[in-house]
Amino acid sequence: MQHSQSESVPHSHAPHNLETIIPPWVSMFRSAFPTATVGPETLTSTQLSSQNLPSYPFTLSTVSLTDYTDDTTAERKTLIRPHARTCMFRGFAISANSGILSVTTDKRMPKFAQLSSTKTPGIFEACFYFPQNNKQFRFAGRSKLVYLSSSQQVILHDAAEGKVEAASSEVEAEFYKAWDSLSPMMRLSFCKPSPGSELTMERWEVLENIEKATDETKAGAPVAPELLEEGKQNFVLILLGPETVDYVDVEGIGQRILFTRANEYEWEFHEICP
Ligand SMILES: Cc1cc2nc3c(=O)[nH]c(=O)nc-3n(C[C@H](O)[C@H](O)[C@H](O)COP(=O)(O)O)c2cc1C
Repeated sequence: MQHSQSESVPHSHAPHNLETIIPPWVSMFRSAFPTATVGPETLTSTQLSSQNLPSYPFTLSTVSLTDYTDDTTAERKTLIRPHARTCMFRGFAISANSGILSVTTDKRMPKFAQLSSTKTPGIFEACFYFPQNNKQFRFAGRSKLVYLSSSQQVILHDAAEGKVEAASSEVEAEFYKAWDSLSPMMRLSFCKPSPGSELTMERWEVLENIEKATDETKAGAPVAPELLEEGKQNFVLILLGPETVDYVDVEGIGQRILFTRANEYEWEFHEICP
């Protein structure tokens, strides 16, 4: 069922500049969050809509394409693999209703290579499930990566466009906001040995030292600035830009709506069978 207007379903807008766009799925997504588990305090839905969303775990999927030679036929082949993992949603980036999902990660993790690869540039799927109300939001689209260059410049890496350039002041502010919002313990985690590397005695000692520094931080000691600088080099802000949003409510007869980004300024949506 195609929608232009509906009582129960939000409708898309065509404002004149990007900053004023609120994707039509944003209010539904906001209202799916469990108000009872929003941080230390319970927030009303009005409070929720006037501020950014709380951290929430979701499944982030990426893809890898690896060329190899078949041992028996000597043919060149490509191994296509999906990769799914749990990540923390860290609210919308840039503005409270932008619809750009923020996630943080470590430059040394395979998902960074998958999202920056020219073969699978920025491709992601992100799946949120809200067990309290049986709603699921499945986002698919392209992501951009924000991180520090070796000369400490904040870089915006848009693999889909094949661009690596200095971030705008707005994106740069978002990068530092994300880093500053991490607890000292989380910041220290970016100093750990390369994630996924073999656990040797040497690396075990590094992990123990980081654990010790974490405990000292909890007891009120400041984190050594050189450690923080090292961690910041590995820190990456992922900006997930959905191009489609597949919403499903499996209560009763159910409801499923497919939202599609039509262009820079507009979203279209229609109801499909759940
Ligand atoms: C509750 C939870 C939250 C997590 N949040 C993140 C996150 O925000 N970012 C991240 O990179 N990894 C996060 N992880 C770890 C990932 O699931 C994964 O193990 C790690 O990122 C390595 O993934 P990769 O090897 O596919 O890159 C989280 C794991 C759990 C269990």
